Amino acid sequence: MKNVIQSVLLLAVLVSTKGAQELTYYVQVGETVTLKPPGVDSQKYVYWYFNGIEIAWRNNMGTTWTYKDSPWKDRLALSDDSLIIKNLQQEDFGIFKYECKVQSETYVKKTYKLLKLTVSVNPTAPLLPGENVALSCNAETDGHKKPEIHWLNPQGVKMRTGQLNWRATSQDNGHWTCVVKKEQESLAKVYVTVIDLSPAPLSPQYTSTSRLLTIPCSLPSYISWEQIKAKDIQELHWQFIPEPGLSPQELFSLSLEDPLTSKAGPIRGRHTVKDPKNKNLSLTINQVREEDRGNYVCALRFKNGVSLNRTVHVKVLQITSSPGTELISGQQLNLTCSLGHPLPPDLRLKWFPPEQSVLSSSSLGSDGHPTHLTIPEVGTGDGGKWRCALWQNNTELTSAEITLKIESKLSVWMLVVICSVAVIFLLLILVFILYQRRQRKMRHLGRRLCQCKNPKSKGFYRT
Ligand SMILES: *[C@@H]1O[C@H](CO)[C@@H](O)[C@H](O)[C@H]1NC(C)=O
Ligand SMILES: *[C@@H]1O[C@H](CO)[C@@H](O)[C@H](O)[C@H]1NC(C)=O
Ligand SMILES: *[C@@H]1O[C@H](CO)[C@@H](O)[C@H](O)[C@H]1NC(C)=O
Repeated sequence: MKNVIQSVLLLAVLVSTKGAQELTYYVQVGETVTLKPPGVDSQKYVYWYFNGIEIAWRNNMGTTWTYKDSPWKDRLALSDDSLIIKNLQQEDFGIFKYECKVQSETYVKKTYKLLKLTVSVNPTAPLLPGENVALSCNAETDGHKKPEIHWLNPQGVKMRTGQLNWRATSQDNGHWTCVVKKEQESLAKVYVTVIDLSPAPLSPQYTSTSRLLTIPCSLPSYISWEQIKAKDIQELHWQFIPEPGLSPQELFSLSLEDPLTSKAGPIRGRHTVKDPKNKNLSLTINQVREEDRGNYVCALRFKNGVSLNRTVHVKVLQITSSPGTELISGQQLNLTCSLGHPLPPDLRLKWFPPEQSVLSSSSLGSDGHPTHLTIPEVGTGDGGKWRCALWQNNTELTSAEITLKIESKLSVWMLVVICSVAVIFLLLILVFILYQRRQRKMRHLGRRLCQCKNPKSKGFYRT
C-alpha cells in the first residue's frame, strides 16, 4: 500500500514537471508575438502572468480580461487562450507564465521566456551592385546554451554565419531571414534593396510594320526616383543590335542629371522615351519598319561606373507581295507573311483574304496557314485588304496588313483599244488637214502657172 502511494506521488511529480516546461522565444522589439497554450479546455480557468503579475485571464463562462493600463495599454489580447503581445517593447523581455485551473487546482503550467533578437542591415538605403552590405543577427543569451544562428538569402539558401559582409549583386535584392534555433526556430526578416531594372519580358515583343511599338524598360516600384538620383545616376541609353554578334548602335541617349537633356538622337525621329522621371524608361518606336527587327538594350549608367541593362527582343511581322501591290487580273501573285525567319513550332499564321477573294480563310486549312500563298491568276476580287495574324495558343500576338490594287484585264484592253482608236482618229484628222492644205496649195500654184505661161486664154478669143 505504501509503495502504491509512493508511486502515485512520483507520477504526480513527473506530471507536474512535465507540465511546467519552459519555452524560449527570440523576438525583435516592435514585433507582435503570440504565446500559444498547450491546449484549450473551455471548462477551465486560464491565467497569464508576466514576471509574477497577472495580466490576462478567462473564466469558465468565457469572460476574458486583459491588463489595460500602462505598460500594456492597447498591446494585450486573448484569442483562443493564446496571449497576443503587440508592438513588443524593451521592458517586455522577461518570463510569461500560463496556468490552467479548476477552482484552486492547477492542471497545466507553462513558462515562456522572451529573449531579444536584433537584426540589422547596413546601409539601409538602396545599394548599387558592387557596393558593400553588412547583415547582423544577434540573439540575447540567458546563460544557457547559445542558440544556433544562420541566414537565408532571398532564394532561401542557407548562409553559415550570423554576421555577413559582402559586395551586393542584383540577386541579393529581397528579404533576408535570420533563423535562430534553440528548442524551436525563430525567424527575423530584413530587406536588402539592390537597385536594378525590372526584369525584361521573357518572350519577344511582337509587332508589325507601320505600328507604334513600346519596348518596356522600367525601374521597380519599391525604388523611388529620389533614391536613384541619390546614387548619382548619369545616363539612359537605348541601343539596337540588329543581329546577335553585331555591335550595338546607339538609338537614344539621355542625360539624367538635372536638367534632363537629350544627348544623342532621337535618331531618325521615330524613337522617344516619354517619362524617365516616372521611372518609365520605355522606348517608343513610331511607324515600325522591317529593319527594326532585333534586340534592344536599355542601359542605365551611374557616375561610379556601374551600368544596369536589360535586353528586349523585337519581332516584326510583315506581308510582302510579289510582283507588287498593283496588279492586273490574270497575273501570278505570291504573298509572304513572315517574321524574317522560319516560325517556331509554337506559333502559327492565319490569313484573312478580302471578302470577295476566291481564297477564303477556311479554305486555307483550319489550323495554321502557310507562310507563302501563291495565287496562279489573281482576279479583281482579290483586290483590297489582306490580313495575316500571328497566333500563339489562343492569343493573337500581332497582325500585318497589305492592300492590293487589281485592274481587270478587260479594262486594260479597253483602255488599249480606246487609246488606239483615239490615236488613229487623231492621225486621220492630221492626214485630212495635211491633205486639205496640199489641195489648197496645188490650186493656188495652178492659177499662177496659167497666168505666166499663157497670158491670154485661147478660149476667150473670138476671131
Ligand atoms: C510606360 O509608358 C508606356 C507608354 O509610353 C506605357 O505603355 C507603359 O505601360 C508604361 N509602363 C509602366 C510600367 O508604367
Ligand atoms: C549588360 O550588362 C552586362 C553585365 O550585367 C554586361 O556584361 C553587358 O556587356 C551589358 N551589355 C550592354 C550592351 O551594355
Ligand atoms: C511565285 O513563287 C514561285 C515559287 O514559289 C515562283 O516560281 C514564281 O516565279 C513566283 N512568282 C512571282 C510573280 O514572284
